[in-house]
Amino acid sequence: MSLLIRNGEIVTADSRYHADIFVEDETITRIGKNLDAPPNAEIVDASGKYVFPGFIDPHVHIYLPFMATFAKDTHETGSIAALVGGTTTYIEMCCPNRMDDALEGYELWKSKAAAGSACDHTFHMSVTKYDEKTEGQLREIVRDGISSFKIFLAYKNFFGVDDAEMYQTLTLAKKLGVITTAHCENAELVARLQQKLIGEGRTGAEWHEPSRPESVEAEGTGRFATFLENTGATGYVVHLSCQPALKRAMTAKARGVRISIETVLPHFVLDKTYAERPGVEGLKHIMSPPLRDKRNHDLLWSALQQGFIDTVGTDHCPFDTSQKLMGKDAFTQIPNGIPGIEERVNLLYTCGVKRGRLSMHRFVEAASTQAAKLFGLFPRKGTIAVGSDADLVVYDPEYKGTISASTQHVNNDYNGFEGMPIEGRPSVVTVRGKVQVRDGKFVGERGRGKLLRREPVYF
Ligand code: URP
Ligand code: ZN
Ligand code: ZN
Repeated sequence: MSLLIRNGEIVTADSRYHADIFVEDETITRIGKNLDAPPNAEIVDASGKYVFPGFIDPHVHIYLPFMATFAKDTHETGSIAALVGGTTTYIEMCCPNRMDDALEGYELWKSKAAAGSACDHTFHMSVTKYDEKTEGQLREIVRDGISSFKIFLAYKNFFGVDDAEMYQTLTLAKKLGVITTAHCENAELVARLQQKLIGEGRTGAEWHEPSRPESVEAEGTGRFATFLENTGATGYVVHLSCQPALKRAMTAKARGVRISIETVLPHFVLDKTYAERPGVEGLKHIMSPPLRDKRNHDLLWSALQQGFIDTVGTDHCPFDTSQKLMGKDAFTQIPNGIPGIEERVNLLYTCGVKRGRLSMHRFVEAASTQAAKLFGLFPRKGTIAVGSDADLVVYDPEYKGTISASTQHVNNDYNGFEGMPIEGRPSVVTVRGKVQVRDGKFVGERGRGKLLRREPVYF
């Protein structure tokens, strides 16, 4: 199988030029002007289009038992949505809870992905308790090719770990050369504030944000950084949403703590007024950390452009309207999550690059290259180079459209970004040299996705 992508403008994190790309089997083998190709090669004309490295979403939930229900996607629906939106690799949070056996959980998550992902994928392994079995099990999972952990400082008694467990996880992570990602909110404060608000009859979705205020996220972020500092481990804050948390993480970075920062799509383009909308509209916009005051947007965009925020993920997590309505009488019962795997690249391009907030190179770096580097996938993924996997996005910057649940591929009955305009979209997407998407349609091979083995990075 060979493929020639002709006449495109290649844009990576650090280069921009016109050239052809030739792919043999699954790998880029030549890049240059006026390349020839065998007569049976598939030809893609990329004139007037950009060619980006396949985008990487470092934070998604596909299979997720949460709040007595399950997120809606399968790997088939989630991966097709990802590909249509230009994402060719995703990293799923493997999330057994405290009552589950970690190794059994890991095997369960793997089996779900093996049953039909159309794009490449791997996992962050959640550590949701630390007992006498944990170290041995985590060592086995790392040997199996998973080189990142996940901890939750939130979700008391379910996914959440206490300080002792965080210390033990980070100490082991340091020994193994594994990076630890963390959801940073103070679980005790969230639980107390939820109880207080519900007790006062403040039960609507608009009270979700006040139950997890910015200071609660800042405390979690600062505490995670302090634990990294005192264990020497390397960390990554997931879905950082606001100024006080950013300040804590950046202060830690400035004193030499190895900490990277992810902000997810909803926190750049939605704000807390969406969760304050009446009825089910508000419920659809509940995630944690919550959508914040709009005053955070400018700061987050500027921190992203300057590289203080390293990556942009989605925290993709689809619950449908009926599931969201489980929390109509108490915001604490709303399954958390706003899906975005299909929208991330186009909204980042439209609201970032097109609006002059983000350079093309930072766009590629934050949505692809940096995740590949942090999570042990570079240069196989995250760039366009001879020897790299041929995960390529031929991007049409002239396309104009509108986000709508009626055209989405995610398995859900609403879209949290409904009605937002997009100015650009992938016209061709390849996974290891195979065309999987053309002009908004999945045309490829279901089940093509591979579980990616990753080695520890030892930062
Ligand atoms: O609201 C969210 N973020 N849902 C998924 C679970 C998590 O915290 O990542
Ligand atoms: Zn989280
Ligand atoms: Zn998440």
